[in-house]
Amino acid sequence: MSETATITIEGKQYEYPVISGTEGEKAVDVRKLRGDTGYITYDDGYGNTGSCLSDITFVNGEVGILRHRGIPIEELAEHSSFLGTSFLVIYGHLPSNEEMAAFSDRISRNADLHEDFRHHFSGFPTDAHPMAVLSAMLNAVGCYHSEMTSNNREQDLEHFDRAAALLISKVRTIAAMTYRMGAGLPFVSSRENIGYVENFLHMMFSEEGAEYQATPEISRALDLFFLLHADHEQNCSTSTVRMVASGGANMFASVSAGVSALWGPLHGGANTAVVKMLQAIHDTGDDGSKFIEAAKSGKARLMGFGHRVYKNYDPRAKILGSATEVLLGSLGHSDPLLDIARHLEKAALEDEYFIERKLYPNVDFYSGLILKAVGIPVEMFTVMFAIGRMPGWIANWREIATGSKRIHRPRQIYTGKVDQHFVSAE
Ligand code: ACO
Repeated sequence: MSETATITIEGKQYEYPVISGTEGEKAVDVRKLRGDTGYITYDDGYGNTGSCLSDITFVNGEVGILRHRGIPIEELAEHSSFLGTSFLVIYGHLPSNEEMAAFSDRISRNADLHEDFRHHFSGFPTDAHPMAVLSAMLNAVGCYHSEMTSNNREQDLEHFDRAAALLISKVRTIAAMTYRMGAGLPFVSSRENIGYVENFLHMMFSEEGAEYQATPEISRALDLFFLLHADHEQNCSTSTVRMVASGGANMFASVSAGVSALWGPLHGGANTAVVKMLQAIHDTGDDGSKFIEAAKSGKARLMGFGHRVYKNYDPRAKILGSATEVLLGSLGHSDPLLDIARHLEKAALEDEYFIERKLYPNVDFYSGLILKAVGIPVEMFTVMFAIGRMPGWIANWREIATGSKRIHRPRQIYTGKVDQHFVSAE
């Protein structure tokens, strides 16, 4: 007999089905609750709400497990590339050599932006925040592809492969152009026959007569950074993408909303906040000890620590922590901010406040130090996260477009005034 859960409301009992995921997670299916009882569930911040069934990514935050399509992130980090993992996340299986070649080729061929984009860029103030520019530009790209942005699901899905490749490719071009716009530098066209990351670094840093040559260590570190950000189930930005998609909006509009959601410091903006925090600690001559005390007393927040889902080490933080040391070693650099980060991590992991609340480093704790070592300016960090997260947003958009027919529309408990009447200002 299938499992059920009994809910007692006003002395009356109601039975609801229990549904299980393939990893054994359980949920009470309350879809009929309001119809049966007039009650809804209340879950501020959605910490106990499963908003969907999904077969893309599995996270077990208690143990510190992250798997895409069943494959552990550690194995992907060791054996795959950002584009290989993007294919896996989007299409559900590891690519064959032929599939990989076709996918990479579609991405390479779609790197350049329409010439008119120069006008869009020149419409922004040069100090516009790169996340604002990115969000606007992704929607703008859609305007040049009306066949992919019809808001008719069948039609938009017919063009899915091309639209996905186009977004993965152009998000990188937009990011590089935004950086160059802010720095007052001329735009650089993409190059054929070089890798995804190398092409990005070329568009960011090449100068007239001086092609930027990425070292293998830099390319690998950045590729790993993107790979580790590829997807992370129902986080704030991905849920936003799904929410927007549920209304029938096309992929470009949906991921553009995802960028806006990612921008905030509690989400993707944390990678910028971590490096600013480490720099501020360094500037005051603290080794992190005073800052830990401030975080415990609520006067500061230890950015890059804590997670809604992980109550253990975020596996991505572990990989990035080691990768930062490898990269700095290969560059022959040392970074005092890495020493502070290591000290903060050690002190926090031994401190009762952080132990009790199960606060561990998250993906953003070390990612900014990798980006800094690669030479990416701090204000671009969250844009880098967006480049990495694009395949996850695309895969989640597709799950909605091919599966769910219902618009996402939570309810609320109204706590405002009742029975008021209009009173004229006179
Ligand atoms: N520093 C100090 N205390 C913290 C921290 C932190 N980074 N994070 C949580 N706490 C404390 C809270 O003050 C709270 O304490 P209390 O019980 O005494 O009130 C307790 O731990 C629980 O914290 P919540 O805020 O309820 O946890 P929630 O799940 O809502 O928030 C979040 C998770 C937003 C990630 C939070 O830990 C945070 O702000 N971290 C810093 C920002 C950050 O790194 N964000 C990136 C997340 S990963 C990502 O989005 C890519």
